[in-house]
Amino acid sequence: MADADIGVIGGSGFYSFLDDVTEITVDTPYGRPSDSVFLGEIAGRRVAFLPRHGRDHHLPPHRINYRANLWALRSLGVRQVLGPCAVGGLRPEYGPGTLLIPDQLVDRTKARVQTYFDGEPLPGPASADATGNGGGTERSGRVPHVVHLSFADPYCPAGRRAAVAAARGRDWEPVDGGTLVVIEGPRFSTRAESRWHAAQGWSVVGMTGHPEAVLARELSLCYTSLTLVTDLDAGTEAGAGVSHEEVLDVFAQNVGRLREVLFDAVAALPGTTARDCPCVDAHAGRDLGIELP
Ligand code: ADE
Repeated sequence: MADADIGVIGGSGFYSFLDDVTEITVDTPYGRPSDSVFLGEIAGRRVAFLPRHGRDHHLPPHRINYRANLWALRSLGVRQVLGPCAVGGLRPEYGPGTLLIPDQLVDRTKARVQTYFDGEPLPGPASADATGNGGGTERSGRVPHVVHLSFADPYCPAGRRAAVAAARGRDWEPVDGGTLVVIEGPRFSTRAESRWHAAQGWSVVGMTGHPEAVLARELSLCYTSLTLVTDLDAGTEAGAGVSHEEVLDVFAQNVGRLREVLFDAVAALPGTTARDCPCVDAHAGRDLGIELP
């Protein structure tokens, strides 16, 4: 039996989640995830929690091993992932404390590996050759593992529905939809960059939502981003700009209710075998005979 069905990847200020946990270390062909994985239960659902930056926040956004994190969760049995993260608001009405469940993503990162399909066969015995036969590392004529994933709608519709309903159920009216632009960081945006992001009509800005979303999709995982606005970004406010302390302070003020929303969203997600969203069939490597963990 799988160790977990649902994964939660906690962001800045969100380093623990479940009450009664078993801590396990997981290794992957892509290296170590950000930290141990903490296994527990919510409403009869088996949940794996992973602190994205490590429990002591030692990993900046550009040093997170996103591939290892998603692979580790998938290898434990996880099929649905909730990804809370801190963001800056790009509109005055999206002030600190706003919860926005994005339906679109813009990638403005610069130096992150954003695929498992690097042209080389995926690691592990389940990797297949050109004939679709697994294993066969000694065979010649292997097809390069090149995949162009469909990513028009980056988030799971069922996960988004569960997150929006969970927030409403806790009297925290979320913004249902909007565009998350992900910057490379670790610095915050200049005022000009921020004004430009806002002028594009994008809603919130963060540093970790990508490549988490696309790697989840490559692994056929449902992925839902829950963005918590911790500040108005530099182009939207007139003050001194964003500081990391401000982000952590506002996150700390909201982490209790965010945890409640996540608990309710976990309970409301469809069961693993009941998933009927497009994410289930997203695994573009299937045509190459590639098997996922
Ligand atoms: N995370 C929290 N606030 C942010 C901001 N203003 N820009 C980028 N990432 C953030």
